[in-house]
Amino acid sequence: MRCVAWWAVLFAALGAARGDGILPALALAPEPRHNDRFALAPVEADGGGGDVGGAAAGLRGELQCQMYSANSRTCEELNGSGSFNTTCVISSSSSLDGDLCVYGDGSLEIRPHVKIICPVRGCYLTVNVSGSITIGEHVEVIGGSVSFDAANVTLNHHSTINTTALAGEAPPQTSGTPHSLEAAGGGHGGRGASCKVSNDINWGGDVYAWSMLAWPWSYGSMGGSLSADQQFGGYGGGRVMLRARDFMNIDGHVLAEGGVGSLKGGGESGGSIIIHALKL
Ligand SMILES: *[C@@H]1O[C@H](CO)[C@@H](O)[C@H](O)[C@H]1NC(C)=O
Ligand SMILES: *[C@@H]1O[C@H](CO)[C@@H](O)[C@H](O)[C@H]1NC(C)=O
Ligand SMILES: *[C@@H]1O[C@H](CO)[C@@H](O)[C@H](O)[C@H]1NC(C)=O
Ligand SMILES: *[C@@H]1O[C@H](CO)[C@@H](O)[C@H](O)[C@H]1NC(C)=O
Ligand SMILES: *[C@@H]1O[C@H](CO)[C@@H](O)[C@H](O)[C@H]1NC(C)=O
Repeated sequence: MRCVAWWAVLFAALGAARGDGILPALALAPEPRHNDRFALAPVEADGGGGDVGGAAAGLRGELQCQMYSANSRTCEELNGSGSFNTTCVISSSSSLDGDLCVYGDGSLEIRPHVKIICPVRGCYLTVNVSGSITIGEHVEVIGGSVSFDAANVTLNHHSTINTTALAGEAPPQTSGTPHSLEAAGGGHGGRGASCKVSNDINWGGDVYAWSMLAWPWSYGSMGGSLSADQQFGGYGGGRVMLRARDFMNIDGHVLAEGGVGSLKGGGESGGSIIIHALKL
C-alpha cells in the first residue's frame, strides 16, 4: 500500500523546463517518517495569488521571520564568534527549538562538519545578509523552510540543506485520498497516486500551487492513512530558497523530498526549491 506522489516530480520538472531557475523537488525519500515527535508549527497555507506577481506578494506576506523586529538569535547564541553585521563564524553545532531569523550587514560562515538543526516541522531557518553566506564541507542544515539570501552564497562539497519530510501545513484536501482511508499519496503539482484497484477515484491528494509555478514556495503534503485514529502517512517535503545577488556556488545537496510513508500510509509529496542567482 505504498503510493508515492509521483506527480510532484512532474510539477517540478515542468517548473525546471520553463527555465526559471527552479530545481526539481523530488517526491521520493529513502526512509519512512511517521511518528509524532515533531510539534507542528503553525504556518500559513499558500498565499495563492492568481498570477506571478500575486504569488510573490503572498510570499513576502508569509515570510515568518518578518515577525521578528530583531534577530531571533545573535551570533553568540548560535555558539558563533563575531556578529551578523561583521562576520559571524559558527564552528559548533546547534539544535534549535524554534525559528532562526537573521538579518545583518555582514557575512555568515558555517565551518565544516557543523550541524544546524531545527527538527520542528515548518521551522524557519532564514539568513539574509548583505555580505556572503559560506556553508562549509559536510555541514548539515536541517529545517522546514530554509532561506539564504546574500550577495554570494556558497555550499561547499558534501554540505546538505535538507528539508525532507519537515513540511509545515499544506492546504486541506491534499493529503492522501480526499475522503475515506486508503493510504493514497499526497498531492502537490499533480494528484497523489492511489494503488487501490477498486478505488473509483483512483487518485490521492489534490493538486495545488500551480499559481506559484514561477516562484514555488509551498510545502509538500502528507500521505493518507489507513487508520482514522493514527497518521500512518509521513510528512511532505519542506521549502528551500537560495538567493544570491551575485555568485551562487553549489557543490552540496539541496533536498525537499517527501517522506515515504509506510505499509499503512501513502507517500508524501515533495516540497519546493527556488534557486535564484545572477551567476550560478
Ligand atoms: C546591525 O546593523 C543594523 C543597522 O545597519 C542595526 O539596526 C542592527 O541592530 C545591527 N545588529 C547587530 C547585531 O549589531
Ligand atoms: C552552545 O554550546 C553549548 C555547550 O556546548 C550547548 O549547551 C548549547 O546548546 C549550544 N547552543 C545551541 C544554540 O545549540
Ligand atoms: C532579504 O532582504 C532584502 C532587503 O531587505 C529583501 O529585499 C529580500 O526580500 C529579503 N530576502 C528574503 C528571502 O527575505
Ligand atoms: C562575491 O564574490 C565575488 C567573486 O568571488 C567577489 O568579487 C565579491 O567581492 C564577493 N562579494 C561579497 C560581498 O563577498
Ligand atoms: C535528509 O533528511 C531525511 C529525513 O530526515 C533523511 O532520511 C535523509 O537521509 C537526509 N538526506 C541527507 C542527504 O542527509
